[in-house]
Amino acid sequence: MENSENQIEVERTPDNRQIIDKLSFLATEEGLKRCMDDADFYLDIVSTFVEDNVLEQLKNCYFGNDWNGYRVKVHALKSSSAYIGAEELRAKAKRMEDAARQGDVEYINLNHHQLLALYEEVLRNIDAVLPKRINTEAGTQIKRFTIFVVDDSRMNCQVVYEVLSGTYNIKEASSGAEFFAQLEAGVMPDLVLLDIHMPGEDGHDIIRKLKSNEKYVNIPVVFMTIDSDLSLELQGFEEGAVDFIAKPLNPALLRARINRILDLYYLQTNLQEEVQIRTQAIVDKSQQMATMLEQIVQALANTIDAKDKYTKGHSDRVSKYTVMLAERMGYTEDQLIHIKYAGLLHDIGKIGVPDEIINKPAKLTDEEFAIIRSHPGIGGDILKTITSVGEVYEAARWHHERYDGRGYPDRLKGREIPEVARIIGVADAYDAMTSSRAYRNSFCQTRVREEIEKNLGTQFDPLVASHMLQIIDEDKDFKLHE
Ligand SMILES: [Fe+2]
Repeated sequence: MENSENQIEVERTPDNRQIIDKLSFLATEEGLKRCMDDADFYLDIVSTFVEDNVLEQLKNCYFGNDWNGYRVKVHALKSSSAYIGAEELRAKAKRMEDAARQGDVEYINLNHHQLLALYEEVLRNIDAVLPKRINTEAGTQIKRFTIFVVDDSRMNCQVVYEVLSGTYNIKEASSGAEFFAQLEAGVMPDLVLLDIHMPGEDGHDIIRKLKSNEKYVNIPVVFMTIDSDLSLELQGFEEGAVDFIAKPLNPALLRARINRILDLYYLQTNLQEEVQIRTQAIVDKSQQMATMLEQIVQALANTIDAKDKYTKGHSDRVSKYTVMLAERMGYTEDQLIHIKYAGLLHDIGKIGVPDEIINKPAKLTDEEFAIIRSHPGIGGDILKTITSVGEVYEAARWHHERYDGRGYPDRLKGREIPEVARIIGVADAYDAMTSSRAYRNSFCQTRVREEIEKNLGTQFDPLVASHMLQIIDEDKDFKLHE
């Protein structure tokens, strides 16, 4: 962004609703209603409330005993407060308007300072929430940034005021004590111009105090110094100063430096906010996609299981046992997700096997058995396009291979069989043995353990099977079954 003199234009962060949420000290619902629920419109109105404030006019009328003028101003305040939903301020302004109309100076005297304090507080609170914006078209400058100059030299403060007050709100303090008192009273500067040499607390003391307070730590501080001592400058940077300006102040240099610092500093802040918002949106989106993927895979698994009335929940259980085994084998979180899907989809090829064969209660003929044995091939064909999660294809095609090479469909042997298929092979057999079939009851745990142990190294990968034996041994109450 070009930062020629006086050209700072920082856009609102994208989500106006989030900004409105931060304006919770206002009755924003009421305000929004008056703006036809248009968040943009409402924030424009709130901005105008700050920009067109009648604070100074109110003070002038009060000190000049101009009660008619005072009445006009509190009336304006009442209306604008109502528009943005500043209810307490609106109510106070209304009472003041009534008093001014009735010439009740005593009431005004009693309540004027309280009204101003509340008005200033509302302005401050809004200002802290609204994104910074400087519109620098000649004559229409909106002074949003507040620069605090802390210097015991009146003349120096005066120069800063002369040079910068056309563009920025300027606050002054002649000592650290006065400066911190104003911060405590609620003044929140966007930049501090700090003299180094002052009686009492000097610039170093003040910046240390500022930087140790979470509330003020991010305010950029610029030192003003007549010293041309390099080590002093270095110390200042170490203490957290963003720049140095030499005294006596050169007006053009002062203006250029301050513009540049505010430009960079607040652009950066807004950028960080924007990056955070967008990153969160991406995280949310990918979370949503992951959930959808999981639901689709689960729906497919349910479709497979619905075909086989004797093995309800088979895919779910195989997937669960597969993940348990893989956890013990040191798989990472991401790998576990892949292997979970592989478990859920391993029997997808059964979709291509006729229902009457799958659900036949009697012994299968050789021909029917051959058809059943075609399901890994069919499953592999169905899943071969899912290259992003290779395990699902491998599991579907090779979960009936045997470690000794006597399995099907490809008679792969040992480590030729992808690991996921070797794991699912064990989980699949475990579930088959611990589930009832039309033609037999489920096995007892001891029998299951014996079968796995017996086939370790022949049907099953010995490492995977030994993990399964451990799981069985730990499952004292035999909870892991259909
Ligand atoms: Fe199978």
